[in-house]
Amino acid sequence: MNTHTTRLTLTRPDDWHLHLRDGAALRSVLPDTARRFARAIIMPNLRPPVVTTAQAADYRARILTALPDALTGQFEPLMTLYLTDTTTPDEITRARESGIVQAIKLYPAGATTHSDAGVTDMTRCGAALAQMEKLDLPLLVHGEVTDPTVDIFDREKIFIDRVLIPLQQRFPGLRIVFEHITTREAVEFVQSSPGRIAATITPHHLMLNRNALFAGGLRPHHYCLPVLKREVHRQALIQAATSGHARFFLGTDSAPHPVSGKESACGCAGIYSAHAAIEFYAEVFEQAGKLDRLEAFASVHGADFYGLPRNTTTISLIRQNWPLPQQLAFGEETLIPLGAGQEAHWKLVED
Ligand code: DOR
Ligand code: ZN
Repeated sequence: MNTHTTRLTLTRPDDWHLHLRDGAALRSVLPDTARRFARAIIMPNLRPPVVTTAQAADYRARILTALPDALTGQFEPLMTLYLTDTTTPDEITRARESGIVQAIKLYPAGATTHSDAGVTDMTRCGAALAQMEKLDLPLLVHGEVTDPTVDIFDREKIFIDRVLIPLQQRFPGLRIVFEHITTREAVEFVQSSPGRIAATITPHHLMLNRNALFAGGLRPHHYCLPVLKREVHRQALIQAATSGHARFFLGTDSAPHPVSGKESACGCAGIYSAHAAIEFYAEVFEQAGKLDRLEAFASVHGADFYGLPRNTTTISLIRQNWPLPQQLAFGEETLIPLGAGQEAHWKLVED
């Protein structure tokens, strides 16, 4: 990678955790990702969820159709299936053999947006997990317990002990991605685990701590799950992302919701960051004095963990201040993106 004070060129990155939605909403948000990333792991939490390989193939075709002409052929959606209590080993086999499904997503039932069809008890999906281990199809986990007696800020930490460690013991060969980690405990767990486990880290968990939820008033656009944590956890995430450790990589969890869904008495969880995702990460890495490690985090570690080829094209960013949009079109509605109205300090340039 070529680092320079004003221009940064890196292997085109991939987003290993992305929500694209469907229909008009999909058409609104997809170009933001496709301009920056070569590939993205597409979350299956549509309504109804993507639970079969056939549904994943249809969704993939809708994504490719939604790409504007200028980006056609430049972006590859990597599909996932939504694990349920009734996912069969045969469905796992079909997914693996399809060549288009790269992973299976575990949402504990009730943990987050559109997770009601998720797994109610890990003992119910043992046969599917065993087949994934056998066929080496990775499991992506939303790592939060849903026990209502557990404090919301502790749900990830407790998930490690109650779910993740037993899961690794039961399926030691299973490749696992601990998605959107938010705590020092998760960082330490991934760093010290002898198992085949990696973690994605979002831009918002690197940029914000939980004070951002209450800065001068309630801030629904900073609400996501797992919820933002204390500063000590944000610092641990920055350390992990910029450490060069191969089992931490980029996953934005960009999760668009219409402004009406966020600014509500019961607002939805999700932060939209796709409009400036790699720019946000560049700023975090620069502030940490580790810009030279951005490429490995954004463009190398994820591909290697998934066993996919690294990209061969590049993108360039220049050091330039530009105003982040106040709002963006989202189908018939609008959304408020991360950093709305603030300045970004890196700008994507077309090569
Ligand atoms: O904040 C979140 N939003 N967390 C998730 O796990 C799901 C996502 C969404 O789909 O909106
Ligand atoms: Zn997500």
